[in-house]
Amino acid sequence: MEHSNFYNWFDTISSKLGVRKDSFYQIFKYLDDMPDPIIIVETGCLRIKDNFSGDGQSTLLFDKYTQFRNKNSKVYTVDIDPKATKACSEIVSKNVSINTGDSVKYLNDLTENFIKEDLNVSLFYLDSFDLNWKSPEQSSQHHLKELVSIKKILKKETLVVVDDSPIIGYLKQSKIKKENLELIKPGLVPAPTIAGKGNLVHEYACDVGAKILFSSYQTAWIGFN
Ligand SMILES: C[S@@+](CC[C@H](N)C(=O)[O-])C[C@H]1O[C@@H](n2cnc3c(N)ncnc32)[C@H](O)[C@@H]1O
Repeated sequence: MEHSNFYNWFDTISSKLGVRKDSFYQIFKYLDDMPDPIIIVETGCLRIKDNFSGDGQSTLLFDKYTQFRNKNSKVYTVDIDPKATKACSEIVSKNVSINTGDSVKYLNDLTENFIKEDLNVSLFYLDSFDLNWKSPEQSSQHHLKELVSIKKILKKETLVVVDDSPIIGYLKQSKIKKENLELIKPGLVPAPTIAGKGNLVHEYACDVGAKILFSSYQTAWIGFN
């Protein structure tokens, strides 16, 4: 199947993706340049049919994309909620391996298996542990644990995307007085960073020299290893 067939389908639903539309498009454009087979590993599966603007329907998008690629391309997803994995299994194709359980343990086991099978992951899409925007710490910690579980199999070009992770930065609405200019010098005011689920993943990325490839409501990094 041609890649263009996937984009014909994507165009029919992309307007429903809202804040995720452009970054999902960038994810697929990045995958277009990656070798077959495309292997996508996701945490947090599609849980409500047609909920494009709320959650994203990521499992369905990845399922469609891998179907348009080489036949060994595949999606692996995990969710702790059996209701979510049941709903997902009724929507996606057999090309998706759906697993019920905690994502950190699942990713740890998957990592060991993929090392044995010499299988390369093209994309990790981390979107489990629901985010409370007023208290994002627990979700952010969980996504850092997911990254720890997969660290051994991350390659320079492996794309890691975390959902619900926009850039935040210092904001001043009024005109800055000359005597206050000192205050916005780098080092005195916190630099812009990644909020939400990906906050600690980004701190770690900065420490090890991984780079943001793009960021809008979702953030994508490469170069963790
Ligand atoms: C935002 S939803 C995923 C949405 C999906 N990616 C989409 O685009 O439609 C988050 C999911 O993470 C699951 N979850 C929460 N904690 C988890 C954990 N520790 N391990 C695996 N899944 C978890 C929830 O059950 C929920 O279904």
